[in-house]
Amino acid sequence: MAQGWSPKSWRAKPISQMPGYADPVALAGVESRLATHPPLVFAGEARKLTEALGRVAEGKAFLLQGGDCAESFGEFTANNIRDTFCVFLSMATVLTFAADVPVVKIGRIAGQFAKPRSDDNEKRGDTVLPSYRGDIINGEEFTAEARRPDPERMLRAYYQSAATANLVRAFAGGGYADLSRARYWYRDDHNHPDLLQRYLSVVERIGDGMGFMKAFGLADAARTSSVDFYFSHETLLLPYEEALTREDSITGRWYDTSAHMIWIGDRTRQPDGAHVEFCRGVENPIGLKCGPSMTEDDLARLLKILNPKNIPGRVTLIARFGADKVGEALPKLIRTVEREGAKVVWSCDPMHGNTIKSATGFKTRPFDRVVKEVKSFFEIHRAEGTHAGGVHLEMTGQNVTECTGGAQAISEEDLSQKYDTRCDPRLNASQALELAFLMAELMDAQKKDSRLSA
Ligand code: PEP
Ligand code: CO
Repeated sequence: MAQGWSPKSWRAKPISQMPGYADPVALAGVESRLATHPPLVFAGEARKLTEALGRVAEGKAFLLQGGDCAESFGEFTANNIRDTFCVFLSMATVLTFAADVPVVKIGRIAGQFAKPRSDDNEKRGDTVLPSYRGDIINGEEFTAEARRPDPERMLRAYYQSAATANLVRAFAGGGYADLSRARYWYRDDHNHPDLLQRYLSVVERIGDGMGFMKAFGLADAARTSSVDFYFSHETLLLPYEEALTREDSITGRWYDTSAHMIWIGDRTRQPDGAHVEFCRGVENPIGLKCGPSMTEDDLARLLKILNPKNIPGRVTLIARFGADKVGEALPKLIRTVEREGAKVVWSCDPMHGNTIKSATGFKTRPFDRVVKEVKSFFEIHRAEGTHAGGVHLEMTGQNVTECTGGAQAISEEDLSQKYDTRCDPRLNASQALELAFLMAELMDAQKKDSRLSA
């Protein structure tokens, strides 16, 4: 076990982004109830994910991580879960086929409820109230009652996570994800026939390949009925995470059983802070958001704290600089990692550094900025001789109008048509698939490069 660590050792460290719960007795009551609830994932699954991410770190696989900015109690339906799952499957189909590389799939799902905020308070007119911090903490409605942090919400988030995980596991293993159904994973809700055609032609070629394998007597090799799908969220609300942290009976090691993978946000990654302290002692794969203020020293320090044994797959660095800053910031951090000899997965979050306010008043992300950051990420890794390992996206299967651009050419005026997100704007299914085609080309180029140099 990590030295001096316990599931509650974070409590002695400075903490940022912690909601002000008014009633400590009520909070402690919820924590002890949660601590008796069953785990949401098994330690063995988290270990399997570390191994899969280890293959990403070695350049042998690609990571696709994504989902809502924040799940919510109000938008909790089977259709939403199914549609998010379908976006993953359609993107993974394109990526796997085009680049011939396995795709590790991790949802921002089944627990992605807590949000870090730049301001503790929100002001509307003369009224100042605590900021909305995600449904696990308080309500979005702008009233004093809704904005009061309520610990009981943690239990509701736990049960919703359990039900979501249950359905996703059923989809992943119960036949929904069978490759023979690939043509149904992308629906042309967006009236974008070219993209649909492009997708269907990939599906057709896969079908031909499978037919050939079956005819050749390789039916087993073509067994495609289930997929591995993992859950992740930002490990922000530490009382919740601590309550779900358990000692694995097989290995005697500690796992945060609220998700397979957890990540540390860009606002809570202080090397001496509570969130890093919590993460250093659990054995789950850990993500670390790297924004423009991350220094080379900070990164070197964090890598030593979080992964002292340098286990490949333990740490995923999620670069989120913005299309204009990535060229300056990323090469330095890649060189730091190389200098330290650290084994990491490099993933690109092209969402959080590219958020702007539209003239029509909505928070949005121009699709071309998202694309630009992804392209730069691949180019920089190519130049540095390192592996562009994956992406981290905010996306939904719903036909939303939250990010401008894409082949549908969503304009700032269109944003009001279907703007449903909690917190940040998401790619819709067609923008996500379009990005997958682009990444498939970039991955293909990366693969040819490594073949040339092998
Ligand atoms: C997020 O992923 O929703 C988020 C808040 O990201 P970051 O910590 O990178 O700002
Ligand atoms: Co977000």
